[in-house]
Amino acid sequence: MAESYILKIYRGSPSQQYWEEFPLELVPFANVITSLMEIQKNPVNLKGEKVTPVAWEMGCLEEVCGSCSMLINGYPRQACTALIKPLIDKSGSSTITLAPFTKFPLVRDLIVDRSIMFENLKKVHAWIDVDSSFERGNNPRISQAKQHMMYTTSTCMTCGCCSEGCPQVNAQSKFIGPAAVAQVRLFNAHPIGKMQSRQRLQPMMEEGGIADCGNAQNCVKVCPKKIPLTDAIAAISRDVTRQAFKNIFSLPERDDG
Ligand code: SF4
Ligand code: SF4
Ligand code: FES
Repeated sequence: MAESYILKIYRGSPSQQYWEEFPLELVPFANVITSLMEIQKNPVNLKGEKVTPVAWEMGCLEEVCGSCSMLINGYPRQACTALIKPLIDKSGSSTITLAPFTKFPLVRDLIVDRSIMFENLKKVHAWIDVDSSFERGNNPRISQAKQHMMYTTSTCMTCGCCSEGCPQVNAQSKFIGPAAVAQVRLFNAHPIGKMQSRQRLQPMMEEGGIADCGNAQNCVKVCPKKIPLTDAIAAISRDVTRQAFKNIFSLPERDDG
């Protein structure tokens, strides 16, 4: 007889959330998204009631877009890469819980509104201004260590796992969150991007900026892309201190290579 399992889903609207269980048969290489698709085909809960299909978001299905992020057995991660069998083996239970993130406004079922993360990226000018398209000759050399940091940081998919895990991101705080801090480090490390470093550091010096980080280091543990978030926080803290002195004494920008 085929092995079975239950998806226990915290679903509903902002005004009413409730747990609902769905029985499923385990098929090889099933993941949370394929399981949700099975429910969508035939949304009948454990009590045998026909219910509305569960709503969730997805895009790339390869852990690049971040849209399928949710709490799986209480841990923030992507549904598209969460295989069912290892989840059962790890927890020793055939019931897997799914819940929406708690640090973002709930839309419905497993969908939350992560707009604040994109607003924060706008706030810190998380892009490079291209001021021309002509040939510029040889570009400045970038050390391998810096290239490695920049590449890893550039893989951020704005999934929100780090904010979900961070105790400083909450309804009472304006903390911008670790992902935006890491993007400040990335774009300020870029030879052209560093021309706007002052603009990026300014929001880091204000309410909700770097001083709001409590150094709990949860963020770096849950980041699926292994982005060195605590290194970024340390680096930006140093840069903010230096920028504060520059602001006082009107010192010129320094190139740290
Ligand atoms: S170090 Fe802690 S407080 Fe700071 S961003 Fe990471 S999880 Fe949040
Ligand atoms: S830093 Fe990591 S956990 Fe945070 S949004 Fe980017 S990829 Fe997700
Ligand atoms: S669907 Fe894009 S990360 Fe899962």
